[in-house]
Amino acid sequence: MAFDFTPLVPPGLPPPAARWTGAARYNFTFGNNDPAGLAVDDLRAAAAAALSRQGRRLADCRLLTGPQGYKPLREFLVKKLKRDAGIECNADDIMMVSGSLQALDLVNAALLVPGDTIICERDCYEGTLNRYTRRGINVVGIPLDQGGMRMDALEAALAELKAKGVRPKFIYTIPTVQNPTATILDESRRKKLLALAEAHSVPIFEDDCYSDLVWSGERPVALYAMSKSKNVIHIGSFSKTIAPALRVGFVVAPWAVLSRLLPLKTDAGSGGLEQMMLAEYCEAHFAEHVPRLRKRFQAKLDTMVAALNEQFGTAAEFDYPPGGIFLWVKLPDEVDAMKLREAALAAGVHVNPGPEWSIDKAYSRSRIRLCFASPTHDEIREGIALLAEVCRREFGVPERSANVARRSSVV
Ligand SMILES: Cc1ncc(COP(=O)(O)O)c(C=O)c1O
Repeated sequence: MAFDFTPLVPPGLPPPAARWTGAARYNFTFGNNDPAGLAVDDLRAAAAAALSRQGRRLADCRLLTGPQGYKPLREFLVKKLKRDAGIECNADDIMMVSGSLQALDLVNAALLVPGDTIICERDCYEGTLNRYTRRGINVVGIPLDQGGMRMDALEAALAELKAKGVRPKFIYTIPTVQNPTATILDESRRKKLLALAEAHSVPIFEDDCYSDLVWSGERPVALYAMSKSKNVIHIGSFSKTIAPALRVGFVVAPWAVLSRLLPLKTDAGSGGLEQMMLAEYCEAHFAEHVPRLRKRFQAKLDTMVAALNEQFGTAAEFDYPPGGIFLWVKLPDEVDAMKLREAALAAGVHVNPGPEWSIDKAYSRSRIRLCFASPTHDEIREGIALLAEVCRREFGVPERSANVARRSSVV
């Protein structure tokens, strides 16, 4: 008899994981990158150069540059953040982490206790929402429109909370290519957001991991840069621009915050070779790599849009995203996205159901999130056609696809 570990597991843990049995043939989930767009040769050369020049640093968990991470990479970020996001900071204001997910964990661990309240966009990154649920946090969701988080709704929510004597711990926002809506908060809303946050003495937690992926190449100045009172914690990542498996992200924050995050980062430092390779690679190639990647992603988006129009027609409603790697799609009301996910998965298509990406389960019931960055153009076309078939079989919509009318009982 195998030893029974079950009684040892403390209550409150997430449910046990199912064993991985392989990815779906058509995978439109996960914020993965485009394998064909990965600069493997340049990364290999950068790793080799980093190892020959700096390899002996790997004998030290912190690469001999201290607990905030590899300093040449932080120095690259200082320049990049100034150029692209308008952020004036120095290497000591930056802390490297193991993916920006670790940044979420650290900030949450430093600032939140069960029963606390935070504010975020109503539709929001699942990895963020899960973390709040697990910590027993009250989440107040602010509706979005095509311009991102609605400031009138935020103002009302803050006033309502104040009337109840509740001061939210922070406003978490993904202002530049929001996940899942892909909206971008413009400068005037950014100003309003900062003004409201200041008026209510609430800090802002700015998650900026998609900001390099705006098709026009122009992003609004970061909230961190605009804040006069230094009440913003800014996090970013190399996952969306270079490769998610490197697991390299970063936090930019005042020392009062970093000094509380550092003791909570108990993994003795993030992957050293990854940071060294990125420092080498980014100095030489980042600026020219990212526009190439944006072109690849936008071409895939166009393929997905064409496939949705062809297969779903007016049954799939969405706004053309100004950047990023996903589409937030509204299907007809009869579609239960949670059921669609299961039925589609059984047929080999994986999609993210809206209710897992929103705190408003009714609003998001018939919505799905589709990632277009990693599948090929053919996979996008075939996968969306299959998704339409499954959707029609399960819910009777779309009634027509590829301009062919079908009885729902046919498929
Ligand atoms: C909004 C947002 N924040 C953070 C992350 C985590 O990214 P990583 O840990 O790979 O940096 C993601 C990944 O999809 C995301 O969409």
